[in-house]
Amino acid sequence: MSNERTHRVAVIGGDGIGPEVTAAALEVVRAAGVTLSTTSYELGAGRYLKDGFVLDDATLEELRGYDAIMLGAVGPAIGDTRIPGGVLERGLLLRLRFGLDLYINYRPFRGVAGSLAEGCKFAIVRENTEGPYAGEGGILRRGTPQEVATQGSVNTRFGVERCVRYAFERASSLASPTLTLVHKTNVLTFAGDLWSRVVNEVAVEFPEVTVDYNHVDAACIYLVENPQRYGVIVTDNLFGDILSDLAGAVTGGIGFAASANLNPARTGASLFEPVHGAAHDIAGTAKANPLAAVSSAVLMLEHLEEVEAAQRIARAVADFEGDVAELGTDGVAKNLIGRL
Ligand code: IPM
Ligand code: MN
Repeated sequence: MSNERTHRVAVIGGDGIGPEVTAAALEVVRAAGVTLSTTSYELGAGRYLKDGFVLDDATLEELRGYDAIMLGAVGPAIGDTRIPGGVLERGLLLRLRFGLDLYINYRPFRGVAGSLAEGCKFAIVRENTEGPYAGEGGILRRGTPQEVATQGSVNTRFGVERCVRYAFERASSLASPTLTLVHKTNVLTFAGDLWSRVVNEVAVEFPEVTVDYNHVDAACIYLVENPQRYGVIVTDNLFGDILSDLAGAVTGGIGFAASANLNPARTGASLFEPVHGAAHDIAGTAKANPLAAVSSAVLMLEHLEEVEAAQRIARAVADFEGDVAELGTDGVAKNLIGRL
């Protein structure tokens, strides 16, 4: 049963399979009895190619006011060079993350049957507004033989601490509370020192959580060979980006991987999107796997405190055994709905 509230959700279907998987996820959410009032925003590669629009201040402010934002996928087809690299990434995705202060990228993983990490459950808490993504740096003497490119990594105590505290909160609710800091403290000594000190300081508030540390290169081996060692991984923006693709691959493929770009302080709407991209090659064929979008919607429902509906859908996804290729996008949605 829904708790009778109407949630205002902005829907950015985006490009390729984005609109299809988002529609399927919305169908499942509504079938679970949650009342949504949705407003669609046409943003992404298609919109940019049509009229050059990426995202302006007024639209960003409008989006801030929703209860949540659902995003499908944005990006041009592979090989389509009409959009310079970075225009949509920085102009839309990062602008939303930075502008709405979505400082946590929460990515839960569950190893599906037959995957390397079968049966394992762990989550990556990725800092989402700093690191190399902040855009510090520049190019000097561009185009000359003496040219210099620098790309800094921004790590503020405020940003690191709020991320680490969120990760500890997540870890402390696990049956076996474990938090692993992943970094490269032996080489990135300044940022690594700050992250390590902050983890040690915040750990005092969470005595029930076992704290571990892995260098990022070693974490790449453990994720493949020993993924059951992880509960919550906390890490910076770039390591978190890379590790979450690896985590997706070992748990069954990024067709299953969900993500929540969260503003836990609720000063802006949080954004929920599958980790996968627009997959233009299968767009419109009804073959796209909507499970990552559905699982992202589960994270949205948790954020909206629709706990019971979130649990029912999560259970239906966990028990899903059908053949995605055979059922197709809508068939998967119907299958889930049948088991709510
Ligand atoms: C992700 C994506 C983005 C990122 C890109 C599209 C900017 O890879 O959400 O993981 O690097 O964060
Ligand atoms: Mn990524």
